[in-house]
Amino acid sequence: MRSILITGGAGFAGSHFVRLLLAAEPEARVVTLDLLTYAGSRDNLRDLPDPSRHTFVQGDINDAALLDELFARHEFDALVNFAAESHVDRSILGPGAFLQANVNGAFQLLEAARRHWTDPRGRRFLQVSTDEVFGELGPDDPPWDESSPYAPRSPYAASKAAADHLALAYHHTYGLEVLLGRCSNLYGPYQHPEKLIPLVIERALSGQPVPLYGDGQQMRDWLYVEDGCAGLLAVLRAGRPGQAYNLGGGHQPTNEALVRRICDLLDGRLPGSPHRPFSRLIRRVADRPGHDRRYALDTARARAELGWRPRVPLEEGLNRTVDWYLQNRQWVEARARSGEHQAWLRQNYSQRESED
Ligand code: NAD
Ligand code: DAU
Repeated sequence: MRSILITGGAGFAGSHFVRLLLAAEPEARVVTLDLLTYAGSRDNLRDLPDPSRHTFVQGDINDAALLDELFARHEFDALVNFAAESHVDRSILGPGAFLQANVNGAFQLLEAARRHWTDPRGRRFLQVSTDEVFGELGPDDPPWDESSPYAPRSPYAASKAAADHLALAYHHTYGLEVLLGRCSNLYGPYQHPEKLIPLVIERALSGQPVPLYGDGQQMRDWLYVEDGCAGLLAVLRAGRPGQAYNLGGGHQPTNEALVRRICDLLDGRLPGSPHRPFSRLIRRVADRPGHDRRYALDTARARAELGWRPRVPLEEGLNRTVDWYLQNRQWVEARARSGEHQAWLRQNYSQRESED
C-alpha cells in the first residue's frame, strides 16, 4: 500500500489506526480526512511516528467534490472508513445525524471509490463495522460469528448495518474489494469521555456521580484499542474481498463489575483522594431505551485466516487506560468541561437521574 485514505482518523479508534499504519507501513503516505465534530481533534494525532508522511484534511465524507479532489491528488490504493457518529445514546436522542454521517457518508465514499478506481483490482475499501449490527444475545446464546443474521436495535446500530450492506453491495455489483472489520467495544487512550470507561474515570476523579444504566448487568465484549487496530490492519492487508471479520476481545464482565474494577484501580492510585472509595459514587440511573443486554463475538475466522488474536488482557488494558487518563488530565478536561459536553450531560442524564 502506497497511499491510504483514513476517514475519521482524528477520532478515538481512527487516530490509533493512523499511528499504527505509519509505523507498520514505512513506505505508505497517509491522508486523514476528518470533519472534526465534537468527537474529533487534531490533538489525538499529536504523537505520530514520521508525521512527514501524514496529511490532515478537515472535511466531510459527504462532500463529493472534496473526495474527487483527494482521490485525484493522492491516487489512493486503500481507504479505511472510521468516520461516523459513534455514540448509541446520541443516536437515541437524535438519529438524523447518524443517517447522514454513517449511511450517506459511507455511500459517498463508495461512490468516490467507484468513480476513481476504474480498475478496482488490488485497491481495498475497509469499512469499520461493529458487533452492534447483530442486536443482542440472550444469556446462553453462543457468540455471533460472521454468518449470524443482522438484527440492529438502536438507530446507531441500524445506520452501521445499512453501511455494511451498501459496502458489500458495491463488492458484488461493481467488484470493489470491500472488507468489513467488525470490532466489539474498544477502549483505551484518547476515547471521548461520553463513553463508559472514560466517563467513569473522569466522573470519579472529579467526585461526581458515576451513572450505571438499569441493573448494570449488561455485558460488552471489551477489546483494547491497539488490538482492535492491529486486527483492522490485518483485515486490510490479508482479508478476502467481500468478507467480514469479527474482532472481539473475549472479555465480557457485567457493566457493574467493570465499573467497580475501575473504581478499585483508582482507589489504589489515589490513596489521598477525598472521594475514596470511588465505588461510593456509583448511581443506578434509568436504563438506555432498548438497551442491548449482551454482546460477544466469535473470532475464529480472524484467528485462522489472519493469524490475529487480542494480546492485551482486560486487566492490563484497564491499568494502561487508567494510567493514561491520570497522566493526561488536560486532554480529558478540555473535553469534559466543554460547553458541548456539559450540554450533553444535561440532555442525557438529568432526566435519568430524576427517574431513578
Ligand atoms: P469517534 O466518535 O471517536 O470518532 C469518529 C470520528 O469521525 C471523529 O473524529 C469525527 O470528527 C469524524 N466524523 C464524524 N462524521 C464525519 C464526517 N461526516 N466526515 C468526516 N469525519 C467525520 O468514534 P470511534 O469510537 O473512534 O469509532 C470509529 C469507528 O469505529 C466508527 O465507525 C464506529 O462505528 C466504529 N466502531 C467503534 C467501536 C468503539 O467501541 N469505539 C467499536 C466498533 C466499531
Ligand atoms: O459494541 C461496539 C460499540 O461499542 C461501538 O460500535 C460504539 O461506537 C461504541 O460507542 C460502543 O457502544 P456501547 O453503547 O456499548 O458503549 P458505551 O460506552 O456507550 O456503553 C457501554 C455500556 O455501558 C452499555 O451497556 C451502556 C452502559 N453505560 C453507558 C454510559 C455512557 C452506562 O451504564 N452508563 C453510562 O453513562
